Amino acid sequence: MPKVHYPSINQSVEYEPGESTLLDISIENKIPHLHECGGNGNCTTCRVRILDGHQHLSRKTLKEQKAASLRKWDPSIRLACQCYPSGEVSLQRLIWSSAEVNKLQLEAVPEGEAEERAIAILFCDMRNYTTLAGEQSTYDTAFMLNRFYTILGEPILMNNGIIYQYVGDEIIGIFGTSGGGRQKNCLDAVRAALGIQHAVNRLNETEFRDFGTSIQVGVGLHFGRAFIGHLGHPQHRQFTVVGDPVNVASRIQGLTRETETGILLSETVYKSLDEGLLSIRHVHNRHLKGKEASFLLYEIEGFTETDIHLELQSSLDYILKNEDGFAARFYDHVFAAAPQVRALFPRDMTAQGRMITHMLSGIIFSLSRPENLKNGLRKLGKNHEKYGVRPEYYPVVLECLLNAVREEMGGQYTERVGYAWRQGLSMIIGEMKNWQAGETEAEKHRLTNA
Ligand code: HEM
Ligand code: FES
Repeated sequence: MPKVHYPSINQSVEYEPGESTLLDISIENKIPHLHECGGNGNCTTCRVRILDGHQHLSRKTLKEQKAASLRKWDPSIRLACQCYPSGEVSLQRLIWSSAEVNKLQLEAVPEGEAEERAIAILFCDMRNYTTLAGEQSTYDTAFMLNRFYTILGEPILMNNGIIYQYVGDEIIGIFGTSGGGRQKNCLDAVRAALGIQHAVNRLNETEFRDFGTSIQVGVGLHFGRAFIGHLGHPQHRQFTVVGDPVNVASRIQGLTRETETGILLSETVYKSLDEGLLSIRHVHNRHLKGKEASFLLYEIEGFTETDIHLELQSSLDYILKNEDGFAARFYDHVFAAAPQVRALFPRDMTAQGRMITHMLSGIIFSLSRPENLKNGLRKLGKNHEKYGVRPEYYPVVLECLLNAVREEMGGQYTERVGYAWRQGLSMIIGEMKNWQAGETEAEKHRLTNA
């Protein structure tokens, strides 16, 4: 039997030519391979570079041709979900983590010119940077800054945003580069701002406690039309955003210091969201530098009701930082509650554990890209039918996952987190069980080609 080789992980797997795409072969062999749209040729997250064996792959489908020409790919890049191998192939997966997926939006941003887009802009500034840098050793400051930027970036990436720039102790996030309506882009930005606040509080309570210091941030949000493009010297073009809304967002952020607030939204952002969605602490009426009219700025506390996305996003870190431990704990619960399902898992449980945590993380990151999520979950559900999973096993797995999350989070677990995970997992399972309702396009394509 021919093999597919994955040189970067030093692994080669045999396969039966004909029925399986390159993506199917990765999944079948428990090799994590992102596939946000479930193999429908829409998201391009399954892209691979073919290092050898190009001649053993099926021709590009129309979808793949379109994706390749839009993104100006060289011929060595293929969509793993769209090609069927028939001989030896060696490949490299190009997107490693869900956090990287947002960068793909930049591929649709024009080169050498700018296009106007309606975007939400987030400016976040560390307030006590100078004190921090003065009080700690250089080594500790570098460590803290690194942790700070990492945890600050995640909420932007989880909400379909792009990290546009780091300027000194400031981070700028952009939401809506590849489209999305006004409401969606503003909601993504607000969730990111609340996620940042949550992450900073947690960092202060945990890792930074030993340093005897805590970090404060100020976040300003605005929405408007700005020009985006890859601009600069032809040899060094950079993703650039220009326009008044960017300056306004920066000034709003500047006012968080003066007003001693955490998160300030412009009226445009606030009015783009459903009434009553956010709980407001105070409305400030201020002049912004360089503007004649005064601005209403909304200081927010959070969502009025539990926001499932935000709770799931904020608790994901607990699972990922002890990924193998979490998965082992989860499967121990499953096999204790339903010993008969143990036989369904004949292979390496560590690899299986990484597949499920990788999948959960991918799902949580793609909550802000719901257009792909449904298809991805239905593909997963269809696979589970093949693995011999019966519908009555799902509620058992749901409870075991909830138990594992609760144990992993320890003292940080709250009723709200529990509620969000129950709702989130019920949605995931609902789609998985419903796989037949949406026989996916990829499947139709496969059947037509058979
Ligand atoms: C929240 C729901 C679930 C999620 C997110 C999930 C996720 C996954 C993932 C990512 C894989 C790797 C293969 C693939 O991507 O197709 C997998 C495999 C598998 N899952 Fe699930 N799963 C869920 C529910 C269940 C349930 C209820 C069972 C029943 C016991 C189950 C049993 C299995 C089995 C038997 C395999 C294949 C094992 C093997 O081939 O060695 N899963 N699951
Ligand atoms: S394009 Fe292949 S999984 Fe989405």
